[in-house]
Amino acid sequence: MASLEDLIPTANKLQDVMYDAGIDTLDLPVLAVIGSQSSGKSSILETLVGKDFLPRGTGIVTRRPLVLQLNNIATNSPLINQHHDEDEIPTDQNNDNNELTLEDHLRKNQGYEPTQRNEWGEFLHLPGRRFYDFREIRNEIQNETARIAGKNKGISRIPINLKVFSPRVLNLTLVDLPGITKVPIGEQPADIEKQIKNLILEYVAKPNCIILAVSPANVDLVNSESLKLAREVDPHGRRTIGVITKMDLMDSGTNALDILSGKLYPLKLGFVGVVNRSQQDIQSNRSVEEALDNEEAFFVRHPVYRTISTRCGTRYLAKLLNQILLNHIREKLPDIKARLNTLIGQTEQELQTYGGTGVITKENRAGLVLQLMNKFAARFVSSIEGTSSDIST
Ligand code: GDP
Ligand code: NA
Ligand code: MG
Repeated sequence: MASLEDLIPTANKLQDVMYDAGIDTLDLPVLAVIGSQSSGKSSILETLVGKDFLPRGTGIVTRRPLVLQLNNIATNSPLINQHHDEDEIPTDQNNDNNELTLEDHLRKNQGYEPTQRNEWGEFLHLPGRRFYDFREIRNEIQNETARIAGKNKGISRIPINLKVFSPRVLNLTLVDLPGITKVPIGEQPADIEKQIKNLILEYVAKPNCIILAVSPANVDLVNSESLKLAREVDPHGRRTIGVITKMDLMDSGTNALDILSGKLYPLKLGFVGVVNRSQQDIQSNRSVEEALDNEEAFFVRHPVYRTISTRCGTRYLAKLLNQILLNHIREKLPDIKARLNTLIGQTEQELQTYGGTGVITKENRAGLVLQLMNKFAARFVSSIEGTSSDIST
Protein backbone atom coordinates (compact mmCIF):
# COMPACT_ATOMS: atom_id res chain seq x y z
CA MET A 1 0.00 0.00 0.00
CA ALA A 2 1.22 3.44 -0.83
CA SER A 3 -0.79 5.08 1.87
CA LEU A 4 0.71 6.69 4.91
CA GLU A 5 0.50 3.45 6.84
CA ASP A 6 4.19 3.06 7.71
CA LEU A 7 3.99 5.69 10.38
CA ILE A 8 0.80 4.46 12.02
CA PRO A 9 2.25 2.26 14.76
CA THR A 10 4.76 4.93 15.78
CA ALA A 11 2.32 7.82 15.79
CA ASN A 12 -0.30 5.73 17.58
CA LYS A 13 2.03 4.75 20.41
CA LEU A 14 3.09 8.32 20.90
CA GLN A 15 -0.47 9.58 20.80
CA ASP A 16 -1.51 6.93 23.33
CA VAL A 17 1.25 7.96 25.72
CA MET A 18 0.34 11.59 25.32
CA TYR A 19 -3.34 10.92 25.72
CA ASP A 20 -2.69 9.02 28.98
CA ALA A 21 -0.56 11.89 30.20
CA GLY A 22 -3.24 14.44 29.36
CA ILE A 23 -1.21 16.05 26.60
CA ASP A 24 -3.64 16.75 23.84
CA THR A 25 -2.31 16.90 20.32
CA LEU A 26 0.58 16.35 17.97
CA ASP A 27 -0.69 19.20 15.83
CA LEU A 28 0.21 17.31 12.65
CA PRO A 29 0.54 19.30 9.45
CA VAL A 30 -2.35 19.54 7.00
CA LEU A 31 -1.67 18.42 3.43
CA ALA A 32 -3.33 20.42 0.64
CA VAL A 33 -3.20 19.72 -3.11
CA ILE A 34 -3.18 22.69 -5.46
CA GLY A 35 -2.88 22.99 -9.22
CA SER A 36 -4.66 23.74 -12.46
CA GLN A 37 -7.93 22.07 -13.34
CA SER A 38 -7.65 18.37 -14.22
CA SER A 39 -3.96 18.26 -13.37
CA GLY A 40 -4.62 15.14 -11.24
CA LYS A 41 -5.07 16.54 -7.72
CA SER A 42 -8.02 14.39 -6.67
CA SER A 43 -6.38 11.33 -8.23
CA ILE A 44 -3.27 11.75 -6.06
CA LEU A 45 -5.22 12.16 -2.83
CA GLU A 46 -7.28 9.10 -3.56
CA THR A 47 -4.23 6.96 -4.16
CA LEU A 48 -2.56 8.27 -1.01
CA VAL A 49 -5.60 7.32 1.04
CA GLY A 50 -5.77 3.98 -0.79
CA LYS A 51 -9.54 4.12 -1.39
CA ASP A 52 -11.78 4.96 -4.30
CA PHE A 53 -14.04 7.69 -3.04
CA LEU A 54 -13.31 11.03 -4.71
CA PRO A 55 -15.05 12.40 -7.78
CA ARG A 56 -12.44 12.67 -10.54
CA GLY A 57 -12.53 13.44 -14.22
CA THR A 58 -12.02 15.90 -17.02
CA GLY A 59 -13.49 19.37 -16.60
CA ILE A 60 -14.27 21.05 -13.28
CA VAL A 61 -15.21 18.24 -10.90
CA THR A 62 -13.94 19.43 -7.51
CA ARG A 63 -16.01 22.57 -6.90
CA ARG A 64 -15.90 22.90 -3.13
CA PRO A 65 -12.94 22.32 -0.81
CA LEU A 66 -13.02 18.84 0.66
CA VAL A 67 -11.51 18.70 4.12
CA LEU A 68 -10.76 15.05 4.65
CA GLN A 69 -9.91 14.12 8.20
CA LEU A 70 -8.43 10.64 8.49
CA ASN A 71 -8.94 8.98 11.87
CA ASN A 72 -7.04 5.91 12.88
CA ILE A 73 -9.06 3.40 14.89
CA ALA A 74 -7.88 0.14 16.40
CA THR A 75 -9.27 -2.99 14.72
CA ASN A 76 -10.95 -3.83 18.04
CA SER A 77 -12.29 -0.33 18.66
CA PRO A 78 -15.71 -0.28 20.34
CA LEU A 79 -16.64 2.38 17.77
CA ILE A 80 -16.78 -0.37 15.16
CA ASN A 81 -19.77 -2.05 16.73
CA GLN A 82 -21.85 1.06 17.18
CA HIS A 83 -24.62 0.97 14.62
CA HIS A 84 -26.99 3.66 13.57
CA ASP A 85 -30.39 3.27 11.99
CA GLU A 86 -29.52 5.44 9.03
CA ASP A 87 -26.21 3.70 8.26
CA GLU A 88 -25.51 3.07 4.60
CA ILE A 89 -25.08 -0.68 4.96
CA PRO A 90 -24.60 -2.24 1.54
CA THR A 91 -27.51 -4.56 0.84
CA ASP A 92 -25.31 -7.59 0.16
CA GLN A 93 -24.00 -7.35 3.73
CA ASN A 94 -27.49 -8.14 4.96
CA ASN A 95 -27.58 -11.29 2.91
CA ASP A 96 -27.93 -14.27 5.23
CA ASN A 97 -26.29 -16.96 3.16
CA ASN A 98 -22.52 -16.84 2.92
CA GLU A 99 -22.27 -17.23 -0.82
CA LEU A 100 -21.04 -14.34 -2.88
CA THR A 101 -23.84 -12.38 -4.45
CA LEU A 102 -23.82 -11.33 -8.08
CA GLU A 103 -23.05 -7.85 -6.81
CA ASP A 104 -19.95 -9.19 -4.99
CA HIS A 105 -18.75 -10.89 -8.16
CA LEU A 106 -19.25 -7.73 -10.15
CA ARG A 107 -17.35 -5.72 -7.57
CA LYS A 108 -14.50 -8.19 -7.46
CA ASN A 109 -14.23 -8.11 -11.24
CA GLN A 110 -14.24 -4.33 -11.12
CA GLY A 111 -11.45 -4.31 -8.57
CA TYR A 112 -13.60 -3.35 -5.58
CA GLU A 113 -12.70 -4.88 -2.27
CA PRO A 114 -15.64 -6.44 -0.47
CA THR A 115 -16.96 -3.77 1.88
CA GLN A 116 -15.44 -3.89 5.35
CA ARG A 117 -17.34 -2.89 8.46
CA ASN A 118 -14.28 -1.45 10.19
CA GLU A 119 -13.79 1.37 7.69
CA TRP A 120 -16.31 4.08 7.08
CA GLY A 121 -16.86 7.74 6.27
CA GLU A 122 -18.98 10.35 8.03
CA PHE A 123 -19.94 13.78 6.72
CA LEU A 124 -20.31 16.81 8.97
CA HIS A 125 -23.54 17.70 7.12
CA LEU A 126 -25.01 14.22 7.85
CA PRO A 127 -24.12 13.68 11.51
CA GLY A 128 -24.25 10.13 12.85
CA ARG A 129 -24.64 8.46 9.48
CA ARG A 130 -21.92 6.03 8.50
CA PHE A 131 -20.98 5.28 4.91
CA TYR A 132 -19.41 1.84 4.66
CA ASP A 133 -19.52 1.78 0.88
CA PHE A 134 -16.94 4.25 -0.36
CA ARG A 135 -18.69 4.61 -3.74
CA GLU A 136 -21.63 6.04 -1.78
CA ILE A 137 -19.22 8.58 -0.32
CA ARG A 138 -18.35 9.68 -3.84
CA ASN A 139 -22.06 10.08 -4.69
CA GLU A 140 -22.65 12.08 -1.54
CA ILE A 141 -19.72 14.41 -2.33
CA GLN A 142 -21.23 14.97 -5.78
CA ASN A 143 -24.73 15.62 -4.40
CA GLU A 144 -23.48 17.88 -1.67
CA THR A 145 -21.32 19.81 -4.18
CA ALA A 146 -24.35 20.40 -6.39
CA ARG A 147 -26.53 21.35 -3.41
CA ILE A 148 -24.34 24.33 -2.50
CA ALA A 149 -22.42 25.13 -5.68
CA GLY A 150 -25.22 24.40 -8.18
CA LYS A 151 -25.23 22.04 -11.11
CA ASN A 152 -23.62 24.32 -13.64
CA LYS A 153 -19.88 24.43 -12.88
CA GLY A 154 -20.15 27.01 -10.09
CA ILE A 155 -17.70 26.83 -7.18
CA SER A 156 -18.21 27.50 -3.48
CA ARG A 157 -15.74 28.26 -0.73
CA ILE A 158 -17.85 26.41 1.85
CA PRO A 159 -15.97 23.17 2.51
CA ILE A 160 -17.36 19.66 2.61
CA ASN A 161 -16.09 18.00 5.77
CA LEU A 162 -15.56 14.26 5.61
CA LYS A 163 -14.10 12.04 8.29
CA VAL A 164 -12.76 8.62 7.37
CA PHE A 165 -12.33 6.06 10.17
CA SER A 166 -10.07 3.12 9.44
CA PRO A 167 -7.35 0.98 11.06
CA ARG A 168 -5.25 1.64 7.95
CA VAL A 169 -4.95 5.43 8.02
CA LEU A 170 -2.89 7.91 9.97
CA ASN A 171 -4.52 10.70 11.95
CA LEU A 172 -4.08 13.35 9.37
CA THR A 173 -6.00 16.05 7.50
CA LEU A 174 -5.90 16.30 3.70
CA VAL A 175 -7.54 19.04 1.67
CA ASP A 176 -8.72 18.61 -1.93
CA LEU A 177 -9.25 21.94 -3.67
CA PRO A 178 -10.86 23.19 -6.88
CA GLY A 179 -8.40 23.67 -9.72
CA ILE A 180 -7.11 27.04 -10.88
CA THR A 181 -8.94 28.16 -14.04
CA LYS A 182 -8.61 31.26 -16.21
CA VAL A 183 -11.75 31.44 -18.31
CA PRO A 184 -15.24 31.51 -16.70
CA ILE A 185 -17.67 28.86 -17.93
CA GLY A 186 -21.26 27.92 -16.96
CA GLU A 187 -22.39 29.76 -13.83
CA GLN A 188 -18.88 30.90 -12.98
CA PRO A 189 -18.45 34.63 -12.28
CA ALA A 190 -16.14 36.82 -14.39
CA ASP A 191 -13.51 36.87 -11.64
CA ILE A 192 -13.44 33.08 -11.23
CA GLU A 193 -9.64 32.93 -11.35
CA LYS A 194 -9.29 35.38 -8.48
CA GLN A 195 -12.00 33.65 -6.45
CA ILE A 196 -10.38 30.24 -6.77
CA LYS A 197 -6.94 31.62 -5.95
CA ASN A 198 -8.28 33.31 -2.80
CA LEU A 199 -10.00 30.09 -1.82
CA ILE A 200 -6.77 28.13 -2.20
CA LEU A 201 -4.82 30.76 -0.27
CA GLU A 202 -7.16 30.37 2.70
CA TYR A 203 -5.71 26.89 3.15
CA VAL A 204 -2.13 27.10 1.96
CA ALA A 205 -1.23 30.37 3.67
CA LYS A 206 -1.21 28.59 7.05
CA PRO A 207 2.37 27.77 8.06
CA ASN A 208 1.17 24.33 9.22
CA CYS A 209 0.15 23.41 5.66
CA ILE A 210 2.29 21.15 3.48
CA ILE A 211 1.57 22.12 -0.12
CA LEU A 212 1.44 19.45 -2.79
CA ALA A 213 1.91 21.68 -5.82
CA VAL A 214 0.73 19.66 -8.79
CA SER A 215 1.92 20.35 -12.35
CA PRO A 216 1.12 18.08 -15.29
CA ALA A 217 4.21 16.87 -17.16
CA ASN A 218 2.69 17.75 -20.52
CA VAL A 219 2.58 21.49 -19.69
CA ASP A 220 5.71 23.66 -19.50
CA LEU A 221 6.82 24.11 -15.87
CA VAL A 222 7.30 27.87 -16.31
CA ASN A 223 3.52 28.04 -16.78
CA SER A 224 2.80 26.08 -13.62
CA GLU A 225 -0.02 27.80 -11.75
CA SER A 226 0.55 25.71 -8.64
CA LEU A 227 4.20 26.68 -8.28
CA LYS A 228 3.35 30.36 -8.79
CA LEU A 229 0.73 30.22 -6.07
CA ALA A 230 2.88 28.15 -3.71
CA ARG A 231 5.68 30.67 -4.05
CA GLU A 232 3.37 33.45 -2.83
CA VAL A 233 2.95 31.79 0.56
CA ASP A 234 6.14 29.73 0.74
CA PRO A 235 8.72 31.90 -1.02
CA HIS A 236 11.70 29.81 0.12
CA GLY A 237 10.14 26.52 -0.94
CA ARG A 238 10.33 25.00 2.56
CA ARG A 239 6.92 23.35 2.79
CA THR A 240 6.10 22.73 -0.86
CA ILE A 241 6.47 19.38 -2.63
CA GLY A 242 6.37 19.56 -6.41
CA VAL A 243 4.30 16.73 -7.87
CA ILE A 244 4.58 16.14 -11.61
CA THR A 245 1.56 14.17 -12.86
CA LYS A 246 0.81 12.62 -16.25
CA MET A 247 4.40 11.46 -16.70
CA ASP A 248 2.90 8.90 -19.10
CA LEU A 249 1.56 11.64 -21.36
CA MET A 250 4.77 13.49 -22.23
CA ASP A 251 5.69 13.81 -25.89
CA SER A 252 8.02 11.06 -26.96
CA GLY A 253 11.61 12.22 -26.98
CA THR A 254 11.06 14.62 -24.08
CA ASN A 255 11.47 13.86 -20.38
CA ALA A 256 11.21 15.52 -17.00
CA LEU A 257 14.62 14.54 -15.64
CA ASP A 258 15.77 18.14 -15.13
CA ILE A 259 12.59 19.00 -13.24
CA LEU A 260 12.69 15.91 -11.04
CA SER A 261 16.35 16.44 -10.15
CA GLY A 262 15.53 19.98 -9.00
CA LYS A 263 17.66 21.69 -11.67
CA LEU A 264 14.81 23.80 -13.01
CA TYR A 265 13.09 24.97 -9.86
CA PRO A 266 14.31 25.00 -6.26
CA LEU A 267 12.17 23.24 -3.65
CA LYS A 268 13.74 21.92 -0.43
CA LEU A 269 11.41 18.93 -0.37
CA GLY A 270 11.95 18.28 -4.07
CA PHE A 271 9.84 17.02 -6.96
CA VAL A 272 8.16 13.64 -7.42
CA GLY A 273 6.89 12.33 -10.75
CA VAL A 274 3.72 10.20 -10.72
CA VAL A 275 1.41 8.34 -13.07
CA ASN A 276 -2.20 8.40 -11.90
CA ARG A 277 -5.08 6.47 -13.35
CA SER A 278 -6.13 7.75 -16.76
CA GLN A 279 -9.72 8.55 -17.70
CA GLN A 280 -9.87 5.13 -19.33
CA ASP A 281 -8.62 3.50 -16.10
CA ILE A 282 -11.42 5.32 -14.24
CA GLN A 283 -14.00 4.08 -16.73
CA SER A 284 -12.77 0.49 -16.42
CA ASN A 285 -12.63 0.74 -12.60
CA ARG A 286 -8.94 -0.04 -12.34
CA SER A 287 -8.17 -0.53 -8.64
CA VAL A 288 -5.77 1.62 -6.58
CA GLU A 289 -3.46 -1.35 -6.04
CA GLU A 290 -3.33 -2.26 -9.72
CA ALA A 291 -2.70 1.38 -10.63
CA LEU A 292 0.21 1.54 -8.18
CA ASP A 293 1.83 -1.57 -9.63
CA ASN A 294 1.33 -0.20 -13.10
CA GLU A 295 2.91 3.09 -12.09
CA GLU A 296 5.91 1.36 -10.56
CA ALA A 297 6.41 -0.71 -13.71
CA PHE A 298 6.30 2.46 -15.80
CA PHE A 299 9.23 4.02 -13.93
CA VAL A 300 11.27 0.84 -13.53
CA ARG A 301 11.07 0.05 -17.25
CA HIS A 302 11.49 3.58 -18.54
CA PRO A 303 14.79 4.13 -20.41
CA VAL A 304 15.37 7.50 -18.69
CA TYR A 305 13.58 7.24 -15.34
CA ARG A 306 14.72 3.76 -14.39
CA THR A 307 17.94 5.20 -12.92
CA ILE A 308 15.86 7.29 -10.49
CA SER A 309 12.85 4.98 -10.23
CA THR A 310 13.20 4.54 -6.44
CA ARG A 311 12.44 8.25 -6.09
CA CYS A 312 9.46 8.26 -8.45
CA GLY A 313 5.81 7.36 -8.09
CA THR A 314 3.00 7.67 -5.57
CA ARG A 315 4.51 5.06 -3.25
CA TYR A 316 7.64 7.19 -2.98
CA LEU A 317 5.50 10.32 -2.47
CA ALA A 318 3.80 8.56 0.45
CA LYS A 319 7.22 7.72 1.94
CA LEU A 320 8.31 11.31 1.57
CA LEU A 321 5.17 12.53 3.35
CA ASN A 322 5.75 9.97 6.10
CA GLN A 323 9.26 11.31 6.58
CA ILE A 324 8.01 14.88 6.77
CA LEU A 325 5.44 13.91 9.38
CA LEU A 326 8.05 11.97 11.34
CA ASN A 327 10.32 15.01 11.30
CA HIS A 328 7.43 17.10 12.56
CA ILE A 329 6.84 14.66 15.43
CA ARG A 330 10.55 14.64 16.18
CA GLU A 331 10.55 18.42 16.46
CA LYS A 332 7.71 18.21 18.96
CA LEU A 333 9.40 15.54 21.08
CA PRO A 334 11.55 17.75 23.34
CA ASP A 335 8.42 19.60 24.40
CA ILE A 336 6.48 16.37 24.91
CA LYS A 337 9.36 14.89 26.90
CA ALA A 338 9.57 17.96 29.12
CA ARG A 339 5.86 17.80 29.82
CA LEU A 340 6.05 14.08 30.60
CA ASN A 341 9.00 14.69 32.94
CA THR A 342 7.10 17.34 34.82
CA LEU A 343 4.17 14.97 35.22
CA ILE A 344 6.46 12.19 36.39
CA GLY A 345 8.16 14.50 38.88
CA GLN A 346 4.83 15.53 40.32
CA THR A 347 3.66 11.94 40.61
CA GLU A 348 6.89 10.82 42.29
CA GLN A 349 6.53 13.57 44.87
CA GLU A 350 3.00 12.47 45.46
CA LEU A 351 4.22 8.88 45.91
CA GLN A 352 6.76 9.95 48.51
CA THR A 353 4.14 11.68 50.58
CA TYR A 354 2.35 8.33 50.66
CA GLY A 355 5.65 6.90 51.91
CA GLY A 356 6.00 3.81 49.77
CA THR A 357 7.91 2.57 46.74
CA GLY A 358 8.45 -0.99 45.56
CA VAL A 359 5.05 -2.37 46.49
CA ILE A 360 2.39 -1.89 43.87
CA THR A 361 -0.63 -0.47 45.57
CA LYS A 362 -3.66 1.22 44.17
CA GLU A 363 -2.14 4.50 45.29
CA ASN A 364 1.25 4.27 43.59
CA ARG A 365 0.05 2.57 40.44
CA ALA A 366 -0.34 5.84 38.59
CA GLY A 367 3.29 6.72 39.36
CA LEU A 368 4.53 3.39 38.07
CA VAL A 369 2.55 3.81 34.91
CA LEU A 370 4.19 7.15 34.38
CA GLN A 371 7.64 5.65 34.98
CA LEU A 372 6.92 3.05 32.34
CA MET A 373 5.79 5.79 30.03
CA ASN A 374 9.03 7.61 30.62
CA LYS A 375 11.00 4.52 29.66
CA PHE A 376 8.81 4.12 26.65
CA ALA A 377 9.27 7.75 25.65
CA ALA A 378 13.05 7.35 25.89
CA ARG A 379 12.92 4.31 23.65
CA PHE A 380 10.62 6.12 21.29
CA VAL A 381 12.98 9.06 21.01
CA SER A 382 15.96 6.82 20.26
CA SER A 383 13.99 4.85 17.69
CA ILE A 384 13.04 8.03 15.92
CA GLU A 385 16.54 9.45 16.17
CA GLY A 386 17.77 6.29 14.51
CA THR A 387 15.75 6.96 11.38
CA SER A 388 17.16 9.03 8.57
CA SER A 389 15.87 12.54 8.34
CA ASP A 390 17.56 13.23 5.05
CA ILE A 391 14.74 13.19 2.58
CA SER A 392 16.08 15.48 -0.06
CA THR A 393 18.78 13.23 -1.48
P1 GDP B 1 -8.10 17.36 -10.71
O1 GDP B 1 -9.09 18.17 -11.49
O2 GDP B 1 -6.77 18.07 -10.63
O3 GDP B 1 -8.60 16.91 -9.39
O4 GDP B 1 -7.80 16.08 -11.62
P2 GDP B 1 -8.44 14.62 -11.54
O5 GDP B 1 -7.75 13.80 -10.51
O6 GDP B 1 -9.92 14.73 -11.47
O7 GDP B 1 -7.98 14.08 -12.96
C1 GDP B 1 -8.38 14.71 -14.14
C2 GDP B 1 -8.27 13.76 -15.32
O8 GDP B 1 -6.90 13.52 -15.62
C3 GDP B 1 -8.90 12.40 -15.05
O9 GDP B 1 -9.50 11.97 -16.24
C4 GDP B 1 -7.71 11.51 -14.72
O10 GDP B 1 -7.92 10.19 -15.10
C5 GDP B 1 -6.62 12.12 -15.59
N1 GDP B 1 -5.29 11.96 -14.99
C6 GDP B 1 -4.86 12.43 -13.80
N2 GDP B 1 -3.57 12.11 -13.59
C7 GDP B 1 -3.17 11.40 -14.66
C8 GDP B 1 -1.93 10.77 -15.04
O11 GDP B 1 -0.92 10.80 -14.30
N3 GDP B 1 -1.91 10.12 -16.24
C9 GDP B 1 -3.01 10.06 -17.07
N4 GDP B 1 -2.91 9.39 -18.24
N5 GDP B 1 -4.18 10.65 -16.76
C10 GDP B 1 -4.27 11.30 -15.57
NA1 NA C 1 -10.88 17.69 -13.13
MG1 MG D 1 -10.32 17.42 -8.38
